[in-house]
Amino acid sequence: MRKKIVAGNWKMNKTQEDAKNLVEAVLSSCKDEAAVTKIFFPPMPFLGMVSSLVQGTSSFSAGAQNCHYAESGAFTGETSAAAIASCGASYVLVGHSERRQYFLENDEQLKQKIDRALGHSLSPIYCVGEQLAERNNHHYFTVIKNQLQNSLFHLSESAVLRTVIAYEPVWAIGTGLTATPDQAQEMHAFIRLALTEKYGIAVAQKISVLYGGSCNAKNAKELFACPDVDGGLIGGASLIAEDFVKIAHSF
Ligand code: 13P
Repeated sequence: MRKKIVAGNWKMNKTQEDAKNLVEAVLSSCKDEAAVTKIFFPPMPFLGMVSSLVQGTSSFSAGAQNCHYAESGAFTGETSAAAIASCGASYVLVGHSERRQYFLENDEQLKQKIDRALGHSLSPIYCVGEQLAERNNHHYFTVIKNQLQNSLFHLSESAVLRTVIAYEPVWAIGTGLTATPDQAQEMHAFIRLALTEKYGIAVAQKISVLYGGSCNAKNAKELFACPDVDGGLIGGASLIAEDFVKIAHSF
């Protein structure tokens, strides 16, 4: 059975005190059941603290929103996968559309980031998604297939099994425009098919594919009911403890 995951990408929000309060509020009211993995992606300065807060739970983890592709070196302001792992984190987001758009991260760099993360026993959550124009001109399957092929499909079977994929249509991020359950299922099934063609059905059936893009406490249930949607990567709604908990209880 595939892992069900609800992950909160806080992006560039919260101070240290807010971060502590949010995690504590979630931990006090969210079921600590292994059936659903809950992951916090705080800003980098709070990663060690959040990792400590979730230590000893059965189903909560922490992750970083980004890592550098190099092992270490003169990259002022950047964070290595080794540093992230040493904070007690278990996951790292790779290829979020905001990183692709504002920091011009390309598929080759993202491929190296995935390798670097895996090399430090971090599970990458590799984000893919099309722009609005690409959806409107019906190129969205090609866009997603290329993103998978260029940055993920070099991995061996055992390595790809340690990854998670997040489908985040760019037009749905922070816009309130959620993909319909039919649109989400169509793309998740396509991603599963691409995984099947590359790695075979047994591997494809084990890789979790999350949906992200204006997923909230109201629409999570119907999105998570789709057979190929294994959970969500949540932005805005993950900043409110009550909403994040409701989403985590939406399976
Ligand atoms: P929103 O949930 O705010 O649309 O953000 C989604 C996202 O980018 C998660 O990584």
